[in-house]
Amino acid sequence: MESNDIWDAETARGYDTPGEGMFAPEVLAPTVDRLVELAGGGRALEFAIGTGRVGVPLAERGVPVTGIELSPAMIGQLRAKVDEAALPVLEGDMTTVRAPGEFQLAYLVFNTISNLLTQEQQVECFRNAARHLVPGGRFVIELWVPELRALPPGRKATVGVVESGYILLDTYDVLNQHVVSHHFTFDETRRARLGRSPHRYIWPAELDLMAQLAGFELESRHADWEGGEFTAESGSHVSVYRLA
Ligand SMILES: C[S@@+](CC[C@H](N)C(=O)[O-])C[C@H]1O[C@@H](n2cnc3c(N)ncnc32)[C@H](O)[C@@H]1O
Repeated sequence: MESNDIWDAETARGYDTPGEGMFAPEVLAPTVDRLVELAGGGRALEFAIGTGRVGVPLAERGVPVTGIELSPAMIGQLRAKVDEAALPVLEGDMTTVRAPGEFQLAYLVFNTISNLLTQEQQVECFRNAARHLVPGGRFVIELWVPELRALPPGRKATVGVVESGYILLDTYDVLNQHVVSHHFTFDETRRARLGRSPHRYIWPAELDLMAQLAGFELESRHADWEGGEFTAESGSHVSVYRLA
């Protein structure tokens, strides 16, 4: 399954859920507040900007934002909100594309580093962030903590979410460090819609090592965008890396 098969026109059309889910003000406001602070008055680069869920409100706060995005369909949705002059986007792969100029901040949110399916690609992503940053610039990653403790020996799947009309089932290939998320959405009929996305999951310590390979050091790790303490029970983290 290639990325552009997943992030196709149908997915792009249905991606935005204004005011709800990942677009809820209680999710987005702290994200944007923290990124404004980390940009420190400089330019920001969003890897995998998608439809501009974060990039558009960040630009509206006065931070000059540039995006890199693989899917033309997702860029098409972003362009319905903001033009190229206000928020330039380069179409291509975040591991290799070079955006013009230098940036104070690069960020990659909503678990998207895991869309890169090999360790080499994930390390290249850090290296590409480093290529864009001024000395002392920051790279921010938002990523979930792999739920390996929910996977007893012999079990190959976990049920992540069960709610009315939606079930998330994750299947694991622990040898290759891959997980495929199966998103089932359904109504009262007998039919369900299945969306699948493959990921390479990363334990925080491995992420830190990837950062080191690209010349970064870990500056902070919190459980959320509001600075909550990261603990052994945290389900995800916001990690800020600083270019040495
Ligand atoms: C979960 S969405 C996140 C979009 C946006 N950052 C957000 O927070 O809503 C993942 C995005 O990553 C993009 N993507 C996946 N692999 C990519 C790659 N190698 N380079 C650039 N974009 C990529 C997809 O096309 C999709 O738009």
